[in-house]
Amino acid sequence: MAALNPQTSVLVIGAGAMGAGIAHVAAAAGHPVYLYDTRAEAIERGIAGIGKDLAFLVSKGRMEEAERAAVLGRVSAVTDLAQAADAGLAIEAIVENLEVKQSLFKQLEALLPTDAILASNTSSLSITAMAAALARPERLGGLHFFNPAPRMKLVEIVSGLATDPAIAETLYATAKAWGKVPVHAKSTPGFIVNRVARPFYAEALRVLAERAAEPATVDAALREGCNFPMGPFELMDLIGHDVNFAVTNSVFDAYFGDRRFAPSLIQQELVAAGRLGRKSGHGFYNYAEGAAKPQA
Ligand code: NAI
Repeated sequence: MAALNPQTSVLVIGAGAMGAGIAHVAAAAGHPVYLYDTRAEAIERGIAGIGKDLAFLVSKGRMEEAERAAVLGRVSAVTDLAQAADAGLAIEAIVENLEVKQSLFKQLEALLPTDAILASNTSSLSITAMAAALARPERLGGLHFFNPAPRMKLVEIVSGLATDPAIAETLYATAKAWGKVPVHAKSTPGFIVNRVARPFYAEALRVLAERAAEPATVDAALREGCNFPMGPFELMDLIGHDVNFAVTNSVFDAYFGDRRFAPSLIQQELVAAGRLGRKSGHGFYNYAEGAAKPQA
């Protein structure tokens, strides 16, 4: 199955951490990209972030200046979805909430060409359920990138019960053409990585709850002892506690309350305090200018 032609317009909905990264990847692969968000300031910040990432690549000699300008020039901000009505692929990276995603896809199905592919970057929600209310559920699949999308190679291609295998293959070939390493997965809660990683975070949170070791110690131990590039607390700070807590809750519920996937009060408290990790400047670590770096 062939990858999507780079002339196909890609609509990315949600210009947060993931949406901006996905827009970057699609534009770098040559696609015209529409970036939409309900908050205009998020689109602005998303495009500025892409610009910063590209400038960094130029400064390191990994990208030519002309290419930087061309990639950035392919990303257009849209403040009304109707401006993106010719998109052949729509990828949503909005809030991790099934009802909100379902309603967005219904809106997209009514707006986009009948052969457009609908894709969700959900970390944990059911692709089967997301597609169920659509007139053409076979056109929806999961296209699950990892954070940060321009740098992380893995993309999980997730098939729900109704997903047309040809659509899954097109998504697979497209992710590959975008320089990614795609894998196929069925729509089970958390798919592959987020399912296997859940107990990794949960156990680290239990270590902290028992005051067995501090986050910086656990992170150093996992980096040095297992060769992981990041320990669990640094990784949770990078993902964002709001996102990670929502994913934990969704996997826990979807496995009928299996205790192995139980969310932690520590995560809940961080979310309640607005300590969302790097994106808010504070999580397990403090990212504020001049803040003391924690010692292992
Ligand atoms: P984020 O909070 O950084 O960005 C979400 C953006 O979506 C915000 O700018 C918000 O204004 C916008 N938004 C919310 N509802 C909307 C709607 N109805 N229509 C249009 N825009 C809307 O979140 P992040 O981290 O980018 O996550 C987005 C999705 O990607 C979630 O489904 C999450 O589970 C998934 N994901 C997150 C990863 C991570 O490490 N943060 C990794 C892989 C997937």
